[in-house]
Amino acid sequence: MADKTVDPARSISGVVELPGDKSISHRYAILAALARGRSEISHYSEAADCQSTLDCLERLGVGVERTGRNGDAEVVIAGAGTDGLRVARRSLDAGNSGTTMRLLTGVLAGQHFNSILTGDSSLRRRPMRRVIEPLERMGARIQAREANFAPLEIRGSALQPIQYTLPVPSAQVKSAVLLAGLFAEGDTSVEEPVRTRDHTEVALREFGADVRQVGSIVSVSGRPRLEARRAMIPGDLSSAVFFLGAALILPDSSIVIHNVGLNPTRSAVLDVLSGWGAPLRIVALRGESGELMGDVSMRHADLSGGTLSGELIAQLIDELPMLAALGPYTENGVEIRDAAELRVKESDRIAVLADNLRRMGAQVEEHPDGLRIKGRAGGRLRGAEIDPRGDHRMAMAFAIAALGAQGGSIIRDSECVGISHPGFFEILEGTVVR
Ligand code: S3P
Repeated sequence: MADKTVDPARSISGVVELPGDKSISHRYAILAALARGRSEISHYSEAADCQSTLDCLERLGVGVERTGRNGDAEVVIAGAGTDGLRVARRSLDAGNSGTTMRLLTGVLAGQHFNSILTGDSSLRRRPMRRVIEPLERMGARIQAREANFAPLEIRGSALQPIQYTLPVPSAQVKSAVLLAGLFAEGDTSVEEPVRTRDHTEVALREFGADVRQVGSIVSVSGRPRLEARRAMIPGDLSSAVFFLGAALILPDSSIVIHNVGLNPTRSAVLDVLSGWGAPLRIVALRGESGELMGDVSMRHADLSGGTLSGELIAQLIDELPMLAALGPYTENGVEIRDAAELRVKESDRIAVLADNLRRMGAQVEEHPDGLRIKGRAGGRLRGAEIDPRGDHRMAMAFAIAALGAQGGSIIRDSECVGISHPGFFEILEGTVVR
């Protein structure tokens, strides 16, 4: 397990190109597997999570070719068609990836064969009842440890369409139901009281499925004929946020993130940062495979900080670690509420944020549904030994917080960044000025 030393830096500057968006990569891989023909997906995420999805698809008999041109990850998927997946001889391992497990549960529920889906020790502790419950209503038969946890034994069944209202705002649950809906005769609908990322809806349309959105209800028609396609995945905004955070912490910084995804259901973090006083600019906005992308530039500024709560939380869910770690660098501090979901992510992110922020000397109040971090008046952060508990976003958020601290920090087991961004530390080293 590799510990990483992060020394304070003076500034960050440069142009950064990030791996393809993790959420979109999973969806393109799965839909390409269910389509007929050869899909070419360029800028596919190098994240370990997205490789887990490819590995599972290969075990289900899908042809996956990983090629790289000009250092860019390209994946070619020979689609099996909606009826073409084959029984896997061994269990399917989703690794650390909740998206892989929850989306594939939706797909596997409607097959004519049985599957076992498992994952690493973190994933085996994350709640799966939220996908099992709607899928059972569709006719799925899924056995789980304590009715909630992986390994999941999924017995392929004939599915019926349902109309489902999401009890927790979750794009993964919405997606599991919509993907299962592809194997049901008729229209499957999901109503979301709180909007979540719509990458599944966008990708389904791109592959030729009949998807309709009326207000907060999205419906998909079953048994579509999905067609292979060529797609380019935009850079991952959730990874970009760490570099934007570094520019905001370090004086005289100026950074440009190239070709980053700007889907409006994902980009609330940019509105939050702008509202806190961040001088953010978006240029070269364009569409790509149904998704928006562009270049984002950021310079250093003093941030006000503020409170994040209510419906906004679902739209910021993966960016909350960085926003929390910015807290001690803001004028008024950062308060996060209504975010109990953070406790069931790759780690208990509320507890891990509180623990490591305190190790750095921050003043933190922990609540069941969030935390309150005192701003600059709480004193300058000091370097510390950080334990991200195997959680990639914790490791990256604290590597950034450490850049502005007094004295060096050590990020334990830093290789966990590979779950979403294997080249994170290399890019950081190439852009910071000491
Ligand atoms: C994701 C949805 C979110 C997010 C996760 C990726 C997706 O999870 O936190 O990192 O790709 O659909 P939930 O659906 O559990 O909110």
